Amino acid sequence: MDKYEKFISRTAKEIRASEIREILAIIRARKDVISLAGGIPDPQTFPREELAEIAKHVIVDLGDTALQYSETKGILEVREMISHFLFEYRGISVDAENILVTTGSQQALDLISRTLIDPGDVVITENPSYLAAIGAFRVRGARLVGIKIDKHGMDTYQLEETVKKLVAEGERIKFIYTIPVGHNPAGTTMPTDRKKHLIEIANRYDLLVIEDDPYSYFVYDETADVSPLKAYDSEDRVLYLSTVSKILAPGLRIGWIASPRELTRRLELVKQYMDLHSPTLNQFIVAYAIRSGLVKEHAHKLAPFYRKKRDAMLKAIKEYFPDNVWYTEPIGGFFVFVYVLKEGFDTGKLLPTAINKYKVAYVPGQGFHTNGSGANSMRLSFSYPPPEIIEEGIRRIADMIRNEG
Ligand SMILES: Cc1ncc(COP(=O)(O)O)c(C=O)c1O
Repeated sequence: MDKYEKFISRTAKEIRASEIREILAIIRARKDVISLAGGIPDPQTFPREELAEIAKHVIVDLGDTALQYSETKGILEVREMISHFLFEYRGISVDAENILVTTGSQQALDLISRTLIDPGDVVITENPSYLAAIGAFRVRGARLVGIKIDKHGMDTYQLEETVKKLVAEGERIKFIYTIPVGHNPAGTTMPTDRKKHLIEIANRYDLLVIEDDPYSYFVYDETADVSPLKAYDSEDRVLYLSTVSKILAPGLRIGWIASPRELTRRLELVKQYMDLHSPTLNQFIVAYAIRSGLVKEHAHKLAPFYRKKRDAMLKAIKEYFPDNVWYTEPIGGFFVFVYVLKEGFDTGKLLPTAINKYKVAYVPGQGFHTNGSGANSMRLSFSYPPPEIIEEGIRRIADMIRNEG
């Protein structure tokens, strides 16, 4: 315990370092290790020249406003561009007044937690779910209840049973948090009937739904229905979150929430004290990137680019993995989720062995689970390494699965 410990708040003491960030820090220093751990975009995809041109124009020609403080909810021009963009890409019809610009989707998750969750409230998620969402909900004192997934995402029949039971027990359920397309970490995409079923359950039991949708702008199976839950939102219960992190660059830190007007106002009030507003300059850059057609042009290139990597990972898994492995086959996003069906196999305990002996890294899956399960699971990401390195990484993981545990 250090001398500052007594000054630290109870909330801050509850926060643990993100497992992924710690693993990434170790691996960064190890050039001999193939990392399938970090789920970050490949920097080759960043449209540098185009962004540089837009940034120059915005700073030189519009600097008086672009370099100035701005409104908490986001500058009108960006909200209007996001509104057009959502209609064109996701068939979502919301006007600028329903949109709040956030500092990445991560801030949206934190804002929603601060605005909706009281300690002891129940939040329902997929089991597994996005680590930083789990963290943002837990820090506000939410009790997380996870719903099992299969190869098509959340099992909505289990969701219905669980909601019914929790309501009968008098629990206060605040919302269902879901990532319907290209799930992080599960790699699943929900089919239409499940999306409709989920909305039906929310309507019947008077619940809000948080739809987190960073990956759907490029998918690997063009025939799949990847329409958003928001498209079926007949009672205005869905808060829809997205971001430019995967379609432009995460360093811009621009995301948004499209929500019912009353909630947009509440979220805006809470955001005031967090950061006044998201960076004005980056908001302008994003507005111009959408208006000039850069985002559209760029998004088209991403599906073939990442599809090659996804194919390399699935091909290698089929070739090298033993039979006692269950895995998902993503049509969107950056991840394959794996359960090793071997008694006592513990991916967390095995990580040092993976790194030091097999020279490969993954993210152990237990932290993504809401109930302490998933010790035998891992998240593999294909977004960053080139295809031939992905193949070699999978071969090494296959050796580890065969030899260890
Ligand atoms: C499901 C999900 N939600 C939110 C985020 C955070 O995105 P942002 O960079 O916009 O904060 C990520 C990032 O990987 C994600 O996978």
